[in-house]
Amino acid sequence: NWRGAALAGGMGLLAACERGPQSALHPAGRNAEAILDLTLLLVAGGGVIFLFVMALAGYAVIARPERFPGSRAWIIGGGIVFPIVTLTALQVYEFAVARQLSDTGGVEPLRIEVTGNMWWWEVRYPDVGEGGEVLRTANRLVIPAGRPVEVVVTAADVIHSFWVPSLGGKMDMIPGHENRLVLVGERPGTYRGQCAEYCGAQHALMAFDVVVEPPDRFEDWLAAERGPAAEPDGPQQAAGRDAFLRSGCGSCHTVRGTPANGAAGPDLTHVGGRGALAAGTLPNTPEALAGWIAGSQHIKPENRMPSFPILGGDDLHAIAVWLESLK
Ligand code: CUA
Repeated sequence: NWRGAALAGGMGLLAACERGPQSALHPAGRNAEAILDLTLLLVAGGGVIFLFVMALAGYAVIARPERFPGSRAWIIGGGIVFPIVTLTALQVYEFAVARQLSDTGGVEPLRIEVTGNMWWWEVRYPDVGEGGEVLRTANRLVIPAGRPVEVVVTAADVIHSFWVPSLGGKMDMIPGHENRLVLVGERPGTYRGQCAEYCGAQHALMAFDVVVEPPDRFEDWLAAERGPAAEPDGPQQAAGRDAFLRSGCGSCHTVRGTPANGAAGPDLTHVGGRGALAAGTLPNTPEALAGWIAGSQHIKPENRMPSFPILGGDDLHAIAVWLESLK
């Protein structure tokens, strides 16, 4: 397609990273496409102007004309009229794109609230239940393909920025203030989001997934996610649940269906079904989870989850196995 050609021709280096789950150059929805088109226009236009100015400068240096032919016309035309016309046209186009980005095309958007924390993402789906209950999860948004999603973002501590390059624009998350952006995912798949505003030591380890599902599979996910945590299957998982509750994990984490109802850390009701642990930092396996519980301050220093080296090997392993069973 023409975008591929423009990328290959004009930005050979960038074209190498065109593919992948986190790429503004490989859009998976119309909003990301509009942003890419704007980017390419600005890069191509800027490139043409740069080459033209360099050619003129080269002419002046090499030919050393006594008097630059038509210099008054160049000053008025190139110095005043051309910038006013092109910059105004670009501004108008940019306004049109920005309008289009916040437009849901008359479709009722799915609303999701995301709060940035040092260094993870709280995700809430308001009014998804019959009783208007709020579904809470963390570090992963699951959205239906084709339907616009209005993401309302804020922050709990410092300024973060919500960015899913494959699906839409970037939006600052500011404590005490709500910002909105619209994401559209048209191609089912898993896309990576990343905090895009420096927010402290572990800014780089503040990622999340956006999973675009066909609408029926999205409804299935929503129904499963609204349910409480699965009952332990077997003595090891039961021991893990007991150890989790005994060790005080529930003072920071909620696991619906158990007494654990803390709100300081991520909701773990269905943690085993997520794509990663610790905001995109670790693979979601019992081994990685045990390592995280025992040494989270070693893996992600200064995060708010203390390391629990005092947990015995059996308890630690059982907790990890139980949590991973919560799909
Ligand atoms: Cu959060 Cu950078």
